[in-house]
Amino acid sequence: MSKVIITAALPYAYSIPHLGNFVGSILPADVYYKYLRMDEQDVIFISGSDQHGTPIELRAIHENIEPSVLADRMHEEIKSLFEKLECTFTKYGKTHCDANREIVYEIFNALNKNNYIKEVKSVQAFCNVDKRFITDRFIEGKCPYCGGHARGDQCNDCGRLLTPEQLIDPICKICGKSDITFKEEKNLALDLPKLELDTRAFIVKNSSNNWTKNSINKSLSFIDEGLHAREITRPMKWGFPVPVKGYEDYVFYVWFDALIGYIGITKDWNPSKWRDYWLDKSSMLVQFMGKDNIEFHALMWPATLIGSRLGFVLPRTLRASEYLLSKELKFSKSEGIGLNIKTALEIADADYWRFCLMYIYPETSDSEFSLEVFEEVVNKIMNDKIGNLINRVFIIYKKNFDLIDESIEPDQELIDKVEKLEADYVLRFESIELREALHAVIELAEYGNMLMSKYQPWTLVKNNNKEKSIELSKIMNLEKLIIYKLGILLWPFTPKASRNILSYFGIDKDPLLEMLDVEYNKIRIVDKEIKPIFSKLTEEQKKKFEVFK
Ligand code: 2FM
Ligand code: ZN
Repeated sequence: MSKVIITAALPYAYSIPHLGNFVGSILPADVYYKYLRMDEQDVIFISGSDQHGTPIELRAIHENIEPSVLADRMHEEIKSLFEKLECTFTKYGKTHCDANREIVYEIFNALNKNNYIKEVKSVQAFCNVDKRFITDRFIEGKCPYCGGHARGDQCNDCGRLLTPEQLIDPICKICGKSDITFKEEKNLALDLPKLELDTRAFIVKNSSNNWTKNSINKSLSFIDEGLHAREITRPMKWGFPVPVKGYEDYVFYVWFDALIGYIGITKDWNPSKWRDYWLDKSSMLVQFMGKDNIEFHALMWPATLIGSRLGFVLPRTLRASEYLLSKELKFSKSEGIGLNIKTALEIADADYWRFCLMYIYPETSDSEFSLEVFEEVVNKIMNDKIGNLINRVFIIYKKNFDLIDESIEPDQELIDKVEKLEADYVLRFESIELREALHAVIELAEYGNMLMSKYQPWTLVKNNNKEKSIELSKIMNLEKLIIYKLGILLWPFTPKASRNILSYFGIDKDPLLEMLDVEYNKIRIVDKEIKPIFSKLTEEQKKKFEVFK
């Protein structure tokens, strides 16, 4: 069985990720990882903090502490929030660690030896007010291609990668002034044109492996426009020093060591086992990211790996999400305020966020988050459709235990429908259509509800006779099977609820898909106080959203 490496784009460590960041990469990666674990695959899930870059350096100067201290403090906080969100990484590491430093140097030296590194002269923005070079993200202006709002490294609207001097009407974000001079500066760059053929071949070969449409389209259109050498160093202090004479005052560009960070963090997790995953040609590397990360993952990253000739596996699958938007609520990371994963957890528990965000996961197009959407999903789907069904089945079962004969088989055609929905769930996961997989779970709950209304088991318990007792047993044995399966299938999405449901069946370990193959009469409900699995949003919870409007 091939090994699988799942990665989620490394969130910047300079502020708490917001819900859009969470649903864009970490959450779907975690959901997919949990599924592969249920399927007993040899899989690791790697993510971590992207700690280098200008924002951390500037904030550290502002707080008068070392950038590494600030970056580690933020890392710990963000890591613990993801853990509260029930994300189970193999390793949530950080880019500023020795293991990553070693791999970065190894890859850089190999690229250098293979003649893929060259010196380039470029014009860099220098702020005459702050008296420093301002790096890409700290300069803003209009995009020369689409006229949209762009940063020095990328346009927010069309997604193209840019260099600062391409911007129209540039402004320094540190001081807000436009007193900017462009000065010539040397840098080391990755010679992408030399790697263009290999990179194109990589895209053509791999993009049939469940890539999202946006990753295929964007990477092909970027490559059709032609590749340019891409700078991988910056004249600043915070980062890994560049080991080349004449570059003593330089560090590697944040994206260079962030991408390599996937390998470095794996090495940090396990100093010997990491090779089994990254150097085995048959390993499958599946990468989750937001759509603004496509170019780096589809071009720069494979080109870096190919050019190093060190034998690292190339991405097999790129899953890039569209954006999660919110007209009314603040989702702002750069300003460090708004509905982020920390404030979200103060409103509701992990399961509610995981379920709701996956329900509206922007898998194929942008989607809109609002309090109304959250309330609708929590109240009508989680609470009414799923939670209530489970509750009613447990209660009827418990109250009428003597009337139900657990050996009576439900109608086969009704069982067939349950198995069909279950198969649909598996197929959706196999093609990494995660939102559709969740919809299959919801359909199963809807089916359970439909059967409840149709057979009305609570009427069958009155004036019970033999015939009614058989009917009651048939329907309740089927409902028991359905909620047992719901307990398993919900695990990637709502792990707490899943554990809770399975505890009523006396199961206290992580579920496996093979547990779905069970005879209806082998499942036993244990004697345990019945409590709701989910609850509706309270007025108090709703009030907490007001702050973010
Ligand atoms: O866009 C971002 O949030 C980047 N920090 C993603 C980096 S992904 C990879 F390179 F690590
Ligand atoms: Zn300035």
